[in-house]
Amino acid sequence: MSEFDVVVIGSGPGGYVCAIRCAQLGMKTAIIERYPTLGGTCLNVGCIPSKALLDSSEKYHETVSTFDVHGIKVSKVEIDFKQMVKRVDDVVSQTCDGVKFLMNKNKIEIFHGHGTFKDDHTLTVSDGKSSTEVKGKKFVIATGSKPSSLPGIEIDKERVITSTEALKLSEIPKHLIVIGGGVIGLELSSVYKRLGSKVSVLEYADSIIGMMDKDMGKNLQKVLKKDGVEFYTSHQVTEVKNTGKEVSVKAKDLKKDKEIELKGDYCLVAVGRRPYTDNLGLEAAGVELDDRGRVNTNEHLQTNKSHIYAIGDVVKGMMLAHKAEEEGTLVAELMAGQKPHIDYNLIPGVVYTWPEVASVGQTEEQLKNDKVPYKKGSFPFKALGRARASNESDGLIKVLAHKETDEILGVHMIGPRCADLIGEAVLAMEFRASAEDVARISHAHPTYTEAFKEACLAATEDRAIHM
Ligand code: FAD
Ligand code: NAI
Repeated sequence: MSEFDVVVIGSGPGGYVCAIRCAQLGMKTAIIERYPTLGGTCLNVGCIPSKALLDSSEKYHETVSTFDVHGIKVSKVEIDFKQMVKRVDDVVSQTCDGVKFLMNKNKIEIFHGHGTFKDDHTLTVSDGKSSTEVKGKKFVIATGSKPSSLPGIEIDKERVITSTEALKLSEIPKHLIVIGGGVIGLELSSVYKRLGSKVSVLEYADSIIGMMDKDMGKNLQKVLKKDGVEFYTSHQVTEVKNTGKEVSVKAKDLKKDKEIELKGDYCLVAVGRRPYTDNLGLEAAGVELDDRGRVNTNEHLQTNKSHIYAIGDVVKGMMLAHKAEEEGTLVAELMAGQKPHIDYNLIPGVVYTWPEVASVGQTEEQLKNDKVPYKKGSFPFKALGRARASNESDGLIKVLAHKETDEILGVHMIGPRCADLIGEAVLAMEFRASAEDVARISHAHPTYTEAFKEACLAATEDRAIHM
């Protein structure tokens, strides 16, 4: 039997980052993973393959629909979908191999198999054929999440699918029906719309990407509608049936109180994810869940058993890879006696559609609700030289700052390369910058970053220069 200072269960971005930081801090560390490859949801069936497919579909879409504006004529453009999916697989396997390399480099012992607590210091790891026991002084539960479904709807993985299957289809759908206008639903709608599918999105709420600032959802819906995506907001799905070669989806229009039926060849269910603790033996370890099935933790991410920590998608908070990574580092440093801190308000959120949507801090709705006095400044990309030069003028940046102190409280953007632009806003807010601080910093011309400076100028006494 092997004995470790720390045993990390799960090798996603939470688990593998935590294991590396533990090893860097001198702890004898093991990592347990039930699948043959490391990297968890993010590397295998989440962030990495979805971004790879988004990128390929974007290149195709640009070639067929925007090259002519640039004066480039292309005569015959075809999609080799098999090659597209193969490239995604290659990117995934290179990235997962990279994690394995890092485990070996940091002398972290890898155990492949499903981990189940036997007691609060022992984990049984079983690969279906044999099992081994791993002892730990401390444990970190980083077991992530799985797709949720809706009551009465069976995900058969053939026609009624989750993101995992949608990233590995053998054909481009003719008509993809998407349930859920959240992050997964919209990123995968973009992929298949660009590749030629008809795409219909059914969303229960009255707007898409409901967790973000309302202006972002409105703008994104406008652009995606222009691209041909059909939206059915305020629609509650009541039935999904696989009829062989087809799938039929019924939903109730909540505003008109009538039923609609859509028929397509695939139905993607993207209504959120649930924490994954199946067969983890939490009862044997005496670890408690909260009322939403997440592992219950205190502000130091300790469970009710103080030597067992939990991080990432399996605990409260946003289900994001970088949030899981920060928590992995925090827990390792806490175990080593350091005093790390995470400001959850400054974890950015990004939707990788095109235009991209990115956000950090408080939304306008939250500030109104909390009665915080605020002012705002917006700047549209169409007023920016760089955006016009690249023919990318959809979108805007909105800066929310405290009315009296001018401190930036929230930044919300939709437009070209916003996934990268948001980094400057996070940095500014981390150092508690005022809108005027950013407005006074020189930003290279012509770049997209100038839109952030201009939005900050607009928030500072309405001083935008190019508007
Ligand atoms: P996971 O990555 O889920 O890893 C948990 C690991 O634990 C898994 O490998 C699992 O097999 C293993 N495990 C579970 N139970 C056991 C057990 N008992 N024994 C052994 N091993 C076990 N986030 C972003 O920030 N950016 C994105 O662009 C993004 N895109 C996404 C796209 C899609 C399609 C999806 C589905 C998700 C996306 N996410 C994205 C979310 C992101 O993938 C998750 O937030 C992140 O993976 C959570 O990390 P984690 O370490 O908590 O868990
Ligand atoms: P989500 O929570 O983003 O969106 C789910 C949507 O489904 C919501 O808009 C909800 O109102 C809707 N919905 C729920 N029940 C419904 C019903 N009965 N009928 C119609 N609509 C219904 O969840 P999603 O998209 O599944 O993503 C899961 C998680 O994965 C997210 O929390 C996200 O953080 C993470 N993720 C992050 C990405 C990124 O950072 N770019 C990309 C993909 C996923």
